[in-house]
Amino acid sequence: MNSQPTPLLCITTLFLLLLTTTHTSSADPEPLQDFCVADLQSTTTINGKFPTGFPCKPASQVTSDDFFFSGFTNEANTSSNDFGSFVTPGNVEAFPGLNTLGISMNRVDIAPGGINPPHHHPRASEAGVVVQGQVLVGFVTTAGVYHSRVLAASEMFVIPRGLVHFQLNVGIEKAILITSFNSQLPGSVVAPLALFAAEPSVPDRVLAKSFLVGEDVVRSIKAKFIR
Ligand SMILES: *[C@@H]1O[C@H](CO)[C@@H](O)[C@H](O)[C@H]1NC(C)=O
Repeated sequence: MNSQPTPLLCITTLFLLLLTTTHTSSADPEPLQDFCVADLQSTTTINGKFPTGFPCKPASQVTSDDFFFSGFTNEANTSSNDFGSFVTPGNVEAFPGLNTLGISMNRVDIAPGGINPPHHHPRASEAGVVVQGQVLVGFVTTAGVYHSRVLAASEMFVIPRGLVHFQLNVGIEKAILITSFNSQLPGSVVAPLALFAAEPSVPDRVLAKSFLVGEDVVRSIKAKFIR
């Protein structure tokens, strides 16, 4: 019997090893220093794992203010869109002190009956807590399994990285959530907007065939998203 590993076995092993390494690394690259307060005015971005890094502001210009953020103190206007929800980002673009640290948070305000519509974050898992109200939180796995629960204040949830999820206010009062991400800029692809409100527009024919409806239905949905 030949005990030499076959080339195919070698390649398979190497591939599996590569896959494992990729899957166990963190979402954002590791920081190289204590902090690197983002210089958002800079036209260059850091060539990290994702093009979402910013150069550091000179250390001599960093002040305590760079490490604190009051953006979540304002009550959001949930009537400003038809979804009845508003996301206030606390990502690196809003809070430059997060740069290179691999974390960020959002405040989500949802009116009664309002929804933070189905969306996914390509670069982060999400952990969140309901601060106020009653919220149906749900997500769908890549195997097509739907997981959900109605959460009350102080209850927490997790959305595995990249999975489509939503938050629906099922209570009678306004709901507030604080969400957190293992990325300084998790990105958000909002399904209805990505498909029906992209510019230039995704062809009606593509959407009609994909949703198994007529192009008239597609046009009527698109008309609701005209900005
Ligand atoms: C909230 O947004 C709606 C729609 O844009 C606007 O009519 C209303 O005046 C806003 N309310 C506040 C308090 O800004």
